[in-house]
Amino acid sequence: MPGDPVRELVDRLSAASILVSADVTKDDLSGIDTETLAARILEEYLGRDGLKIVSKSDLERMLETLKAEKTPVPAEHIQAQRTGFSAYASEIDADYSIRVSENERSGVNLDGFVSYFRNRMERMRDIIGSQRMGISGMVQNIEALRNCANGRDVTVVGMVSNKIVTKNGNIMIVVDDETGEYKIIFMNGSSQKAKALFEKARRIVNDEVLAVNGRMSSPFIIANEIVWPDIPINNREKTEEDVGIAFISDLHIGSKKFMEKNFTNFIKWLNGEHGDRHDLAGKIKYIVVGGDVVDGIGVYPNQDRDLSILDIYAQYKLFMDMIEGIPDYIHMFIIPGNHDAIQRAEPQPALTKELVGEIKRDNVHMLPNPSFLTLHGVDVLAYHGTSLDSIIRSIPGLSYADPEGAMVELLKRRHLSPIYGGNIIVPSPKDSMVIDKVPDILTMGHVHKNCLGNYHGVDILNSGTWQARTDFQIVQGHVPSPCILSVYEARYNRFATLNFA
Ligand SMILES: [Fe+2]
Repeated sequence: MPGDPVRELVDRLSAASILVSADVTKDDLSGIDTETLAARILEEYLGRDGLKIVSKSDLERMLETLKAEKTPVPAEHIQAQRTGFSAYASEIDADYSIRVSENERSGVNLDGFVSYFRNRMERMRDIIGSQRMGISGMVQNIEALRNCANGRDVTVVGMVSNKIVTKNGNIMIVVDDETGEYKIIFMNGSSQKAKALFEKARRIVNDEVLAVNGRMSSPFIIANEIVWPDIPINNREKTEEDVGIAFISDLHIGSKKFMEKNFTNFIKWLNGEHGDRHDLAGKIKYIVVGGDVVDGIGVYPNQDRDLSILDIYAQYKLFMDMIEGIPDYIHMFIIPGNHDAIQRAEPQPALTKELVGEIKRDNVHMLPNPSFLTLHGVDVLAYHGTSLDSIIRSIPGLSYADPEGAMVELLKRRHLSPIYGGNIIVPSPKDSMVIDKVPDILTMGHVHKNCLGNYHGVDILNSGTWQARTDFQIVQGHVPSPCILSVYEARYNRFATLNFA
């Protein structure tokens, strides 16, 4: 490896918070394989308490041992080191909980939709109320606007049932609640304030719940401000143990473009048998799989041309066979996506044993999409991300190249799939897509593009894909980012990113 070996060693040990004494020089490490040396240091130091600093004398002792074993270090020896891989995560107990949402179906009928939207409205109103105590002129409901005189300052909460641009170039929205509906106008004015408000109004999407402040001008409200439900600043408590959570999604097993060799390398890496950063591999206690485990069958016209496995059960069998290689101390939480062979309407139920077979290991958890998990104290909201399509289409400035922006818009709206009809939903009495509990990490897949960001203290992660660029993506101009792995290091509240491409 080119470069400064001291720097390389320091970098390799930094994730494990092991420092290297300042008197260690380049010359001390000349001709030494830093990967092998780092593995030896990790073996020796990981179990130690307190400040971990590799002193020059300790280093010389270890170098002597390494040299005695063989000089230079041959490949077989490196392999032997890896076989001796010891994982910190194997020595600690799993600590997780899964928040199960009530998802009692009421059937697809008018009553079902009425109760679904009423539930959404009530819960979003509570969220807006709890977040924005200081909003001026808040009226109880839309019906109460009838008693408000023209010119009065009012704030109303409603669900957007329509949004149009009027012939004068203004934006008009219609909001409703269980008591009625009202029209709100956003003027296309020339002042800086009017322009800023108009830009915000362009971001309003159908079926979302928001609060608008404005002046009564019956039968309209002339808007002055928009208030989205939004999230408060999130402060995550530190996790004591040095555990890692890995995020993957969109494997698309069964597709000719599934990058099987790379995925196999990821599994080998988890076992300390591939690549570097084995210190990080050894920390991984949890893996969240964000859907599109397989490519599916008949998901789009002529899909069979793109498949290497034409049988859905065989696609899932390959997945289950592959994850057999994942160490059994790692807990996997698997949600489905729109390519999986399960009900498409969201929330989606967990993959069934009819599809994946009997699960013999208790470290594999099949869960609904979306799911809310707490992993070693870290709250993770996992959603496949199908609604990203309609959000990217509807809000100016968003793109598939930057899914972070779209994920932030969903957090601001406190809803995973606000646009009804953008993707199919189950009209259950409780809207399971409302984000009522703010997570530490919001993770999605679907768009096959990695991103990592933060909004109000919530980490935003798109876990990308393990499928190469498809013909469809070439036509659409989408450039995926396959085989990039993100691992959250809970103790340090940071992400590490590894490339298996
Ligand atoms: Fe996908």
